[in-house]
Amino acid sequence: MTGRVCVVTGATRGIGRATVEGLAVRGASVVLIARRSEDGMKVSREIARAGGATPDIVSADLSSQASIQHAAAELKQRHPRLHVLINNAGIITRDRELTVDGIEKQFAVNHLAYFLLSNLLLDQLLAGAPSRIINVSSGAHAGATLDFDDLQGERGYNASKAYGQSKLANILFTYELARRLHGTGVTVNCLHPGVIGTKLLADYMGVPVAGGALASTFGASPEQGADTIIFLASSAEVEGVSGKYFERRRPRRSSMESYDEAAARRLWQLSEQQTGLSS
Ligand SMILES: NC(=O)c1ccc[n+]([C@@H]2O[C@H](COP(=O)([O-])OP(=O)(O)OC[C@H]3O[C@@H](n4cnc5c(N)ncnc54)[C@H](OP(=O)(O)O)[C@@H]3O)[C@@H](O)[C@H]2O)c1
Repeated sequence: MTGRVCVVTGATRGIGRATVEGLAVRGASVVLIARRSEDGMKVSREIARAGGATPDIVSADLSSQASIQHAAAELKQRHPRLHVLINNAGIITRDRELTVDGIEKQFAVNHLAYFLLSNLLLDQLLAGAPSRIINVSSGAHAGATLDFDDLQGERGYNASKAYGQSKLANILFTYELARRLHGTGVTVNCLHPGVIGTKLLADYMGVPVAGGALASTFGASPEQGADTIIFLASSAEVEGVSGKYFERRRPRRSSMESYDEAAARRLWQLSEQQTGLSS
């Protein structure tokens, strides 16, 4: 991975933090996207101590489209060529919350941020080709459907339903972007990292986070969660592979709904409108 520039969102803890370390010790130049720069600096110091190249830090609140635009502009200035973009940051909100842009928060952070950041960084990824986009989805997409009449949960909000829907959106977006980027040298894949003991899992299960107890009680370690992401970012085995859903380093079939191309195009158009990307 020496000389490969890898951008990772949700890099301050959990699966993203473990991904950063795994990539940095393999020689990659990692750029952390962190909501608070002090959290990013802490991770950056820890990675340097672990023997990896000191990661660069770009601050962004991924629930704010202005903040994403600002971070993308900063990234463009500092890194004109990118080789890997890992969209990983995710949330579960028990109650329905709105972002500064007036969008339901899980849909905004879990899907629209992936969509907007990938599109804004596309020129740099094309300049760095062969390059890879990796979207962290979840097995929780299974059983979800996109309710286009109420994507924002205005009529009735259910936290795990909204989460499942946003993770299905990750896969529909991955497959659609892979179709659009066919032949460009930029590949796009997504994955389920496993059931991993992180704050997000605690939020999902409604249990408090108590030091390391969570990881040993529920789920595998963040390092295990990062394994397939690092594989997709670095392995020659997946060179040229695009538009697939992975689990434990293997391509798997995702839910039937995730292969609905008409729904993927509709979601793309709607995402363009909601992020102001449509011309
Ligand atoms: N854990 C599991 O069992 C599991 C299973 C399947 C899929 N996943 C997926 O794996 C990914 C990572 O989850 P995790 O379990 O590692 O979660 P986590 O430990 O809770 O970490 C979430 C990361 O996202 C960042 N983030 C959240 N909201 C943000 C915002 N508005 N702006 C910037 N950064 C933000 C957090 O930063 P702060 O520190 O600033 O909050 C944190 O770094 C998610 O996409 C999730 O859906 C997880």
